[in-house]
Amino acid sequence: MSVSIKSVDELAKMRVAGALAAQVLEMIGPYVVSGVTTGELDRICHEYIINEQQAIPAPLNYRGFPKSICTSVNQVVCHGIPSDKKILKSGDIINIDVTVIKDGYHGDTSKMFCVGEAPVHAQKLIEITQECLYIGIELVKPGTTLGDIGHAIYQHASKYYYSIVREYCGHGIGAVFHEDPQVLHYGNPGKGLALQEGMTFTIEPMLNAGKRHTKLSKHDGWTVETKDGRLSAQWEHTMAVTATGVEVFTARSDERF
Ligand code: MF3
Ligand code: CO
Ligand code: CO
Repeated sequence: MSVSIKSVDELAKMRVAGALAAQVLEMIGPYVVSGVTTGELDRICHEYIINEQQAIPAPLNYRGFPKSICTSVNQVVCHGIPSDKKILKSGDIINIDVTVIKDGYHGDTSKMFCVGEAPVHAQKLIEITQECLYIGIELVKPGTTLGDIGHAIYQHASKYYYSIVREYCGHGIGAVFHEDPQVLHYGNPGKGLALQEGMTFTIEPMLNAGKRHTKLSKHDGWTVETKDGRLSAQWEHTMAVTATGVEVFTARSDERF
């Protein structure tokens, strides 16, 4: 495993890319309503990233992925493919995952939206998943290990009897979309890589209401769903380790770190 340390110059580019990715999530919020298709949400984001931001949607053609964002509805864990046939209805929950490339560097972030009013149990899953992300972020500083972060996230989810997906994880990021290290959302305190100033990565916990196991769609080769068909939620940020803590590149205006 080789984990790169970014230069001041690279960090500046990631700051810009991260802010753009966050702005896409802020922009798309008002469009996430009953009756819209995930295909339409994809088109709106695509146009915005290309025309307004003069940036590149990283998922498009990434290892053959056909669209510009991922849209994962209800029991879909991650990597849902936007489609004109998928119409959102009141009570659905959806993760929108945006990754942009600007000046050669990536910003990767996702958040959950409720369509109309979601059931209280779905709202709780969403809330605890976001808390898991925030608990991970709070621990980021030189000397913290990836095991410390994974353990804390796992413990918090377990407290509410939610399970943590293991097949997918956070990742190093920079000029490359997915690079070392792997950032697992479970682990053992004090184990794994010790963080150093200048490392950049994502934390992106996926919590399931039921069992942790997933299945990959044989149909499209991308869509990951819970095996038991129960709900899943995910939140993601891209960040850097600073001398004293963390800088969250993809923070939105409703967030303070
Ligand atoms: N944005 C996802 C992540 O958090 C990766 C999506 S890859 C794609 O790492 F090809 F599905 F878009
Ligand atoms: Co990611
Ligand atoms: Co992502």
